[in-house]
Amino acid sequence: MKSRNWKGLGTLRPKLCIFTSCLFKIQIVKLLSIVGARPQFIKLAPLLQAIDRYNLHASASLEHVTLHTGQHYDNNMSDIFFEELEMPHAEVNLGVGSGPHGKQTGKMLEGIEEILQREKPDWLIIFGDTNSTVAGALAAAKLHIPVAHIEAGLRSFNRKMPEEINRVVSDHISDILLAPTPTAVKNLEVEGLAKKTVLTGDIMYDTVLRNVELSRKKSDVLSRESLADQSYYIATMHRAENTDDPTRLGAIMNCFNEMADRHHPVVFPMHPRTKHRIEQLLPDWTPHKNLKILAPVGYLDMLQLVSSARIALTDSGGLQKEVFFMNRPCVTMRDETEWVETVSSGGNVITGADPEAIRQAVSNWEEKLKEGEVDFTQQIHENFGKGDAAEHILNAILN
Ligand code: UD1
Ligand code: UDP
Repeated sequence: MKSRNWKGLGTLRPKLCIFTSCLFKIQIVKLLSIVGARPQFIKLAPLLQAIDRYNLHASASLEHVTLHTGQHYDNNMSDIFFEELEMPHAEVNLGVGSGPHGKQTGKMLEGIEEILQREKPDWLIIFGDTNSTVAGALAAAKLHIPVAHIEAGLRSFNRKMPEEINRVVSDHISDILLAPTPTAVKNLEVEGLAKKTVLTGDIMYDTVLRNVELSRKKSDVLSRESLADQSYYIATMHRAENTDDPTRLGAIMNCFNEMADRHHPVVFPMHPRTKHRIEQLLPDWTPHKNLKILAPVGYLDMLQLVSSARIALTDSGGLQKEVFFMNRPCVTMRDETEWVETVSSGGNVITGADPEAIRQAVSNWEEKLKEGEVDFTQQIHENFGKGDAAEHILNAILN
């Protein structure tokens, strides 16, 4: 008997199934995860490993289906992460692709609804703050399928960011809010969502801990790009607020050229969105010879590039954390961050797209590096947990 046949019991179904497994041997609890964008594949990996470990020891059995919306589709934005992180490819790929927010999210809703009606999961799991996240939450909530939101409670308090809208909507219609940090818990309390909230630690920290050694062994990116340890800066940039505003985009690209000229080579794996916007908005811009523009790299290459960099310059949410987890200094080219602990711990400086602020932040980090290496281990554990978030997440969902 499958737990999903127990209609009308809402969030009690998985609990009842585990309980009844003692009476009726194996019961199946069905989980369906929705992913679509690069950082979500990276967050899914530890969860799948935790499910495998659970199935080895528990009397109840967890069945898992991965639904990929197709929001990201290039090999180096999608497949490479399943391969490197040794995950089975998604059972379902909606192939939604790129488009304006409404059209992209609408296509996702339509596709997800159909799959949820077919698969009838006991729980839907969503990650982070992309259009794939909010589409999953909406589709499931309307079908009365319980939703668990991993990385809930993040707030930039800037409603101009599409991600902020996705976060607020997803949190308010989810059934369990899996908060990565104490700050996220507080944000949810303020919005009256404390009862649904569980502090789990950060699942990206799980992925970093499990792969950082592997990346040292497997990635040859440093030799491929002729880079010596601590001799370059790593940069990423893809946020709409930076790529879609020609003034901000121009300021940041010129800053990268300046850093490459005055300090150290800048290695810049470029998101496809940024590539397209530079071609459209800055047709005359040319990179300095020491600004190494690469196609997006795989996760193992990225970990290697971050762990050997002097400084990271980024507007990525995930990268701000990974840089902190690997004890490297970070400059965040945004006007605010959700990951405020990286700033209050002294590991991250917010500069916006202001060239003078970026210059100053880089010079300050260079001075600090001369005094010795930086170490944030204690603050990582206080704020992001111990690298066992996936286990806490699974327990929270099942209990
Ligand atoms: C999305 C998320 C953002 C997240 C980022 C991770 C939303 C609203 N935004 O932004 O929160 O930080 O993913 O990387 O969900 N493109 C390709 N190939 C691909 C994917 C995208 O060429 O495989 C190009 C297309 O021109 C597309 C553009 O990138 O129009 C933007 O892609 P999209 O998924 O809409 O948003 P991201 O900027 O990637
Ligand atoms: N990343 C990667 N290759 C790249 C750039 C980023 O593997 O060329 C990884 C990075 O290490 C992090 C994740 O992608 O784990 C962050 O994704 P992104 O910056 O696209 O999205 P965000 O976290 O801002 O939503």
